[in-house]
Amino acid sequence: KKKIAVMTSGGDSPGMNAVVRAVVRMAIHMGCDAYCVYEGYEGLVQGGDLIKKMQWNDVRGWLSEGGTLIGTARCMAFYERPGRLVAAKNMILHGIDALIICGGDGSLTGADKFRAEWPSLLEELVANGQLTKEQIGPYQHLNIVGLVGSIDNDLSGTDATIGCYSALARICEMVDYIEATASSHSRAFVIEVMGRHCGWLALMAGVATGADFVFIPERPRDRDWKADMSNVVRRHRELGKRKTIVIVAEGARDKDGTKITPEEIKDLLADKSEGGLALDTRITTLGHVQRGGTAVSYDRTLGTLQGVEAVRAVLEATPETETPFIAINENKIVRKPLMKAVAETKELSKAVDAKDFEKAMGLRDTEFAD
Ligand code: F6P
Repeated sequence: KKKIAVMTSGGDSPGMNAVVRAVVRMAIHMGCDAYCVYEGYEGLVQGGDLIKKMQWNDVRGWLSEGGTLIGTARCMAFYERPGRLVAAKNMILHGIDALIICGGDGSLTGADKFRAEWPSLLEELVANGQLTKEQIGPYQHLNIVGLVGSIDNDLSGTDATIGCYSALARICEMVDYIEATASSHSRAFVIEVMGRHCGWLALMAGVATGADFVFIPERPRDRDWKADMSNVVRRHRELGKRKTIVIVAEGARDKDGTKITPEEIKDLLADKSEGGLALDTRITTLGHVQRGGTAVSYDRTLGTLQGVEAVRAVLEATPETETPFIAINENKIVRKPLMKAVAETKELSKAVDAKDFEKAMGLRDTEFAD
């Protein structure tokens, strides 16, 4: 009987519980044993109670829970080979021969490395007497499948990562709240959203709320960004807008690589010197409200469909199959090579075309303001 384990790793994201529930139930449905590894890679390294066999009922009600109920961690030990050696041993002692991991690109890269190293880890475990040849016999190949759980929507090759639409919905809701009070007082707000390397949340929230200006990491601003922003905001005010919303991704920077901070944006909006905007300005950092809370229906569905597909991928894998991740492309759930997507992500995060950005935002050449 195949033993399939599922774990969540890295930063949590809404929809991870849907993944775990789907993997556990699909594995059982397909006649396999289902396991959860608690606390991410930490659970693999520590073993014991952190690797737990799951029954159908154990995941009842998980769809409507936020976060990840099996815990997650950023595990330093797993970054080093000795940590991975213990992890391999624990997996074999529990009889686990396939691992489904839901996490960001860092966690999934770690998984691919683990799989590549697997034969040499087994050799070492036998050589140092921790396991016997008979014990490692049935576990010659490690079967790994990745699912992308991240609120940032920061992996190339998939249209959406699990959790990104929940975070976007939360941001829009929060911006709506802020807009009401901003409008009452005719104030400006600088709203910082998550996105260390990827501006998807900031950009989409800007489009969805009609923000005045957006800063994202993929489009480092010219040194004259201050004049650009002031001109746009001034024009919107002249058109009669009573509120000003500037959305800044936490990873936003200028062309020199210097971080653009909410404080300097605020100072500019509030500048009372001649020609300054002199707006009464506040800063709101949304923080972890973006990541917590329940998943929107899209992320529940995505997690469920991809969890089911991950179990299928495990059952159909051969030793020659590259480590796959489960993507969604044009509404279809598909399998793709993981490391290719990781490499593409690094390439693509460099820059987006400035003109497309302006067009998408409708910021420069339009005469409307909300
Ligand atoms: O999940 C990714 C992310 O949301 C980033 O955008 C953000 O910088 C980071 O997580 C913060 O995570 P933590 O507070 O867990 O370090």
